[in-house]
Order: sequence, then C-alpha cells, then structure tokens
Amino acid sequence: MKAAYFMQNGAPEVMQYGELPDPVAGSGQVLIEIHAASVNAADWKTRVGYRQLTTTFPFIPGRDFSGVIKALGPDVNDLAVGDEVFGVTEQTGARSYAELIAINAAIVSKKPKAISHIEAAAVGLIGLTATIAIENTLQLKSGETILIQGGAGGVASFAVQLSKHIGAHVISTTSAINKEYVLSLGADEVIDYNQQDFTTVVSNCDAAFDTVGRNVAIRTLKVLRPGGRAAFIDGAAPKSERSDIQALKPNVERKRVHLDHIAKLITSGAVRVPEIKIYSLTEAAAAHRVSEGRHFRGKLVFKIR
Ligand SMILES: NC(=O)c1ccc[n+]([C@@H]2O[C@H](COP(=O)([O-])OP(=O)(O)OC[C@H]3O[C@@H](n4cnc5c(N)ncnc54)[C@H](OP(=O)(O)O)[C@@H]3O)[C@@H](O)[C@H]2O)c1
Repeated sequence: MKAAYFMQNGAPEVMQYGELPDPVAGSGQVLIEIHAASVNAADWKTRVGYRQLTTTFPFIPGRDFSGVIKALGPDVNDLAVGDEVFGVTEQTGARSYAELIAINAAIVSKKPKAISHIEAAAVGLIGLTATIAIENTLQLKSGETILIQGGAGGVASFAVQLSKHIGAHVISTTSAINKEYVLSLGADEVIDYNQQDFTTVVSNCDAAFDTVGRNVAIRTLKVLRPGGRAAFIDGAAPKSERSDIQALKPNVERKRVHLDHIAKLITSGAVRVPEIKIYSLTEAAAAHRVSEGRHFRGKLVFKIR
C-alpha cells in the first residue's frame, strides 16, 4: 500500500510518501480501504517526538479515517465487506495516513450516507473529544454559560455547536479573521483574543473548555463561578489555586457508541462538519506545517481515493 510516514522524528521534511507492506486483519479486526484521513495536532506532535508512540520505524501517523471494509478478520460478525465506515485509531496508536488500515471492529462505525468520506474523516477525533468533554466531563446543561477557548479550531468548532445544541450560552475566543466563522457556528459572544484579555470581560461561567492550553489554560480557571468546572485537552489540566472549582482532563476513549452519537449529531443537523481544506498524501509535510502553525480554520483532510 501507499502511505505517508517518517523514518525518524523531526521537522515536517521527515515526512515521506511511498510503498509499505499491507496490513492484515487479525481476530476481531477489519481491513479498511481508506478513502480519506485527517490531520490532528497529535500527528505532528508524534512526528516531532513529543509523544512516546514512535518506537519503531517506518511510523505512519494519523488517527482519523473513513473508508470501505475490504476484508473481515476472524470473529467479526456485525460488519460486512463493502460497508462504509469511519473511525479513530486507539489512544495508543496511529496509522491512518495510508491506503489500508487493520483495526478493531468495535471502534469503527457506519459512515452516515449523508456525508462524504472526506467529511467523515474530518469529524472522528474532534467529535469524540468534544462530545466526551462537553457531555461527560463537563456535563453541560441547558441554560448554563460556557467559555470555549479557540472556537475556530477543530475540536472547539464541534464543541461550540454541541454546546448550543444542548441549550447553553456560548462565549468563544478567536482571532479577528475567524470571528464571523465562529459566530456562524452558533457562538453567542466572540472575543478577539488579540484585542481583549478574556479574563477582564468574562466571569461567573458555569463551565469552560480550553482547547488552546499553554498560558491560556491557567487563566481559563479565572472565569469560573464557585462550583464551576473546566476541561483541558492541550496537555494536563493546570493545578488550580482555587479549591471551589474543578480542573478536569477528559478521557477520550474509543467506542463505537461514541462514533454513532457523532453520526447522529451530524445527520440530524445539530452539528455541521467544520470547514475543510483538502490535501493529497504526498503533501503530508505541507499539511503538518499548517497544523503546527495552529492558526488555521476547521480541518485539514487527505483525499486518498
Ligand atoms: N486529549 C485528547 O484526547 C485530545 C484530542 C484532540 C485534540 N487534543 C489537543 O487539543 C488541542 C486542540 O486541538 P484541535 O485539533 O482542535 O486544534 P487546532 O484545530 O490545531 O486549533 C487551531 C485553532 O486554535 C486557535 N487558536 C490558537 N491560539 C489561540 C488562542 N490563544 N486563543 C484562541 N484560539 C487560539 C486558532 O484560531 P485563530 O487562528 O483564530 O487564532 C486555530 O483555529 C491540540 O493541542 C490537540 O493536540 C487533545
């Protein structure tokens, strides 16, 4: 199969494109012909070596995929050859920048017919992260106010829409160029973080979801009311000096039921697929450079077939 991979950790230039051995579906696995895969920040963090996943080379990055089942391994009874499916690789793994993937059938789901493979590949990890953070970790309720940091990004674009769907009042931070986009996702208030310090204009929130991290994370805690809770996905949750709030780290587990939920949110119109820019697998280095810059909108997707 053709794949994008690297033979050592390093700058985007270490990305190569070429022929690697085909995977084989083991017990409980399906072999999928991948039509599209998307870029997540985890991919370039792995390439750089921030994450300890890269113990053997060649290493194929990539978590999100959408495609068609080509073969079933032993003991797979609930999916069939020809099914259109999408999913996200295990928390400990990657390998979707490729024409084929063998993966546990229990963590793939049927792709909604209403969306393309490109769109399905865009929503897996961002949807899992947003739904688990907003619904399970923060347990956001109708009528509550939430601050979502980085509204134009992949996870946050899903989270803004989901929070509105739940019935919350949504405040989100973004740069000026993405203000209209984040409002179009349903945010009630948008703060241009280059013009205003959010800690001076936002307070008393029931919840906060920080997708930006670094120096933003510790300041996010300041906007919470007593009893408020915040979730963090860029690194660990910061240590809080306040004992009256919760700083939480979502566990973004892979299960078919979560993917089915994402599919329903999209087909019902509650959440729309974020803006997408399409690349070919031969352009993996270029796509990583854009992702690493951390100022693009929506998702970057590889069209593989
Ligand atoms: N723990 C997990 O399981 C998990 C899962 C998914 C993602 N993550 C992590 O979560 C983070 C977000 O992921 P993602 O894919 O959503 O990121 P992303 O799409 O790469 O985020 C890019 C966005 O961040 C915005 N941004 C950058 N600096 C900002 C700032 N200071 N304030 C507000 N917005 C800012 C940019 O908007 P502007 O251009 O307008 O600045 C851009 O749209 C990454 O670090 C990723 O590794 C963790």
